[in-house]
Amino acid sequence: MSLVIDLRSDTVTRPTEGMRAAMMTAAVGDDVYGEDPSIDELETRVARLLGHEAGLFCVSGSLANLLGVRLLVEPGQEVLCDVQAHIARAELGAHAAVHGLTMRTFPSSRGRLDADQVSKIISPNAGPYLVSTAAVAAENTHNFGGGTVQDLGQLQGVGDLCREHGLGYHLDGARLWNAHAATGIALHTYGELFDTVSVCFSKGMGAPVGSVLVSSAANIARARVLRKRLGGGWRQAGLLAAACTYTLDHHLPRLVDDHAAARAFGEAVVQRAPSAADVMGIETNIVIIDTGDRPAASIAASAAARGVALSTLGPFMLRAVTHLDVTAAESAKAGAIVGDLISRSGGEH
Ligand SMILES: Cc1ncc(COP(=O)(O)O)c(C=O)c1O
Repeated sequence: MSLVIDLRSDTVTRPTEGMRAAMMTAAVGDDVYGEDPSIDELETRVARLLGHEAGLFCVSGSLANLLGVRLLVEPGQEVLCDVQAHIARAELGAHAAVHGLTMRTFPSSRGRLDADQVSKIISPNAGPYLVSTAAVAAENTHNFGGGTVQDLGQLQGVGDLCREHGLGYHLDGARLWNAHAATGIALHTYGELFDTVSVCFSKGMGAPVGSVLVSSAANIARARVLRKRLGGGWRQAGLLAAACTYTLDHHLPRLVDDHAAARAFGEAVVQRAPSAADVMGIETNIVIIDTGDRPAASIAASAAARGVALSTLGPFMLRAVTHLDVTAAESAKAGAIVGDLISRSGGEH
C-alpha cells in the first residue's frame, strides 16, 4: 500500500515549490575553479553562523565528517566517540577504510557526552605501545540516542580536556539546527567549541542534498584537496547550494514544529502503550519506541500495513522521526496506530 505517514527519517522530505524556484534561479559556476557564487554564499554564511573562518560544501554528512575528522587525526591515530555515534556505526568504516585511523568508543546514556568519562580514556602521545588519541568527536543532536541535545557544560568540559591535551575536537552537527531550535543556544556558541563542525541540510532542514564542513581557513583549504582526491569536487553545484541556503531562511525557524509533532506522536503512543515511549525524553524530532516483548520488525510491518513507516533500530526498538512533510495531526494519528499495535500485541496485519 502507499505510505501516508513516513516517519522513517527526516531525510525523506521532498523539495518544496519555493526551494525548487530558488534552485532554478541560482547563479552558478565551476566550483572546482572556485567560481560558483551560490556555493560561496552558502559556505561563507554557514561558517559565519558557526563562528568559523571558512566552509566547504560537501555532498553528504558522511563526507563532511570524513574530512573533518581527518583534519584532526593522522593515519594510525584514534578519535574517541560514543558507542552509538553516527561516525562509528553508520559511516561504514570509512574513517578506517579510507583514512587509516581508528576509533575507540565509550558507552553513554543516549549519546550524551560526559567529560569525566572522556577524561578516563584519553591517551595522547601514547608512544610506541598504544594508539595515540588525536581527537574527540561529539554528535549534537544525537541520532541513535533519540535526538538528544548535548549539555553545553559537558561539551565545554570535553573542549577543555581537548585543549589541555592538545587534541582536536570534531562535532557531527548533522542536526545541530535542532539542538539550536530546542535550546535557543546560538549556533556560534556551539560551533566555536570545536575545531571542525559538519552540518547537514538534507535532514530536518529539507534540502535534497548537502552538508557543510566549517573550520579555519587553512583547514578548509586542506579539506578541499582531500575532497577532490575522493572524487568529491563538483562543478555547477550551486543549484544544490541554493536549496541549502533556502532552508536557512525558510525551514530553520520551523524546526520547533517538528519537535512539537514528535511530542504529539509520543503522547499518542503512551496513551495507548504507557511504557512504549518516554515523552519527557523527547527533546527534538526523534522518538525512540520500546516495543516491550513484541518484535520491533513485526510492529513496524503492521504499522506499514496501516500506512505508517518507522525505522527498526533493534530487536525491540523502533524510531520515528518527524519532519517538514508531516503535520502534528498526522504524527498524533501515527502515534495512535503504533500505540494500539503495541498495546494489543497487534503484530498481526
Ligand atoms: C548524526 C548524523 N551524522 C551524519 C549523518 C550522515 O549524513 P549523510 O546521510 O548525508 O551521509 C547522518 C545521517 O543520517 C546523521 O544522522
